[in-house]
Amino acid sequence: MKMMIAGNWKMNGLAASQGELQNLIDMFSGSTPEGLDILVCPPATLVASFAASYSDEGVMIGGQDCHPEDSGAHTGDISAAMLADAGAAYVIVGHSERRADHGESDALVKAKAEAVLAAGMAPIVCVGETKEEREAGKALDIVGGQLDGSLPQTNDEIVIAYEPVWAIGTGLTPTISDIAEMHDFIRGKTRQDIRILYGGSVKPGNAQEILAVKNVNGALVGGASLKANDLFGIISAAPGNV
Ligand code: PGA
Repeated sequence: MKMMIAGNWKMNGLAASQGELQNLIDMFSGSTPEGLDILVCPPATLVASFAASYSDEGVMIGGQDCHPEDSGAHTGDISAAMLADAGAAYVIVGHSERRADHGESDALVKAKAEAVLAAGMAPIVCVGETKEEREAGKALDIVGGQLDGSLPQTNDEIVIAYEPVWAIGTGLTPTISDIAEMHDFIRGKTRQDIRILYGGSVKPGNAQEILAVKNVNGALVGGASLKANDLFGIISAAPGNV
């Protein structure tokens, strides 16, 4: 299975930030590694220009969220069809920041994932437990429930991202055995060909160890994806890519 290293820029990036992506491509001396998929999900304002400039350079472009409907009276929202039209190949749905800040339910996340599939792209469906849930021994139950509620029924490509909420942007990561346990658990509940990414404080310094775990098929990277150097370090740490 091809690994995926996906960058989630969140609400960061202006037109000038295109230089950071160009720096990344320059670090690969013009040809990105073929053994893995590289995806960058910039804010929606940059999807079209990044896709126009970089989709042929071995860096795919994705969205960070979408509305479940194709069009209509939803001021400020962006549909999956619009992201596809702008050149996106993937869309993150159900990120914990959307679930927490916008009260997104599993059912809404599933509807969004279905919209992404209907628009001809693949959704990256995010799941993950809070610190309290992990400490209460409920991490597997919580993630299992999120998967049951938010994964679309399909034979098309979907990607799952396991992102413990407490590891996002904190510098904290689960132990390698906790990551392995969760990824094995998710694999047991899903199709064999679905990539399961780990996300939460992935950095050049811990990427090699995390990406070597069985059933970790790549990483979803927030903060460290904003700097070409860091993202390059993570990509270089992927197995088969050193
Ligand atoms: P982080 O974010 O790498 O900054 O922890 C990961 C994410 O939220 O996707």
